[in-house]
Amino acid sequence: MSVWAVLAAAGRGERLGSDRPKAFARLGGRPLLAESLERLEESGWIDAIVIAAPPDWEEPSILVAEEIAATKVSSAVTGGDSRSESVRLALAEVPEDAAVVLVHDAARPLLPEEVIERVLAPLSDGWDGVVPTVPLADTVKRVEGDRVVETLARDDLVAVQTPQAFLADALRRAVAGDVSAATDCASLVESQGGRVKVVEGDSRLLKVTDADDLALVESWLA
Ligand code: CTP
Ligand code: MG
Repeated sequence: MSVWAVLAAAGRGERLGSDRPKAFARLGGRPLLAESLERLEESGWIDAIVIAAPPDWEEPSILVAEEIAATKVSSAVTGGDSRSESVRLALAEVPEDAAVVLVHDAARPLLPEEVIERVLAPLSDGWDGVVPTVPLADTVKRVEGDRVVETLARDDLVAVQTPQAFLADALRRAVAGDVSAATDCASLVESQGGRVKVVEGDSRLLKVTDADDLALVESWLA
C-alpha cells in the first residue's frame, strides 16, 4: 500500500507579512517549508511527496528538497487560489495506484511522527479519512456583527489540525467538485458522505499565522 503526502505550501502568508511567501519565511535559519518536509522525508510511513508551491516558487521548493536530501519529493506543482485548489492540483500528480494520501500544511512545521501514525492507522478499519484534533480551551460563541447569537456546547467541539489522512479515492472524489468554501480536506470528504474519524492531535502542530507564532515555534525548536 503506497502512501503519498501532499504538502500545502502555496499560500501567500499575508498575515505573517514577510517579503516572501510563508513557506519561505526563515525558521531556525532555513525556510519554514524545510521543517515539515524533513519530517515527512524521515517518516517511515510516507513513500512519496508532492509540494504545492506558490507561483514562481516551484524551483526554490525543489532546491529546499535537494538541500535537505528529501529524495521522496516527486514534484513541486503550482498551487491554486485557495488551499483546497492547491491540494487538488497536487493530487493530480499523485499516481492512480496510490492507496492513501496524507495532506499537511507547511504552515505547521513541527510534525510529530506519532501523529502521522495516528491518522494513518484507522484507514485500514473502514474509515475514509482521519483528522487530528485538540480540545478547545476557549468558549466558542456564534456572533452576528458585534452581537452574540449563541454559545456553543464546548463538549461537542474540537479544533482540527493537519496532517489529515484519506483513502486516495475518497479524497479524489471530494476535491473534484466545488472546493471554494472548504477550509480543510476532511469537510469535503464529509460532504460526500465519507466517514471521518477523529484522533488525538498535538499542541506542537501549532499553525504559524503571524510573527508571534513564528517566534513561538522557533523557541520550541531551540
Ligand atoms: N495554502 C495553499 N494554497 C493556498 C492557500 C494556502 O497551499 N492558495 C496553504 C498554506 O501554504 C498553508 C496552509 O494552506 O500551509 C494553511 O493556510 P494559511 O495558514 O492560511 O496560510 P496562508 O494562506 O499562506 O496565510 P494567509 O492566509 O495569512 O495569507
Ligand atoms: Mg490563508
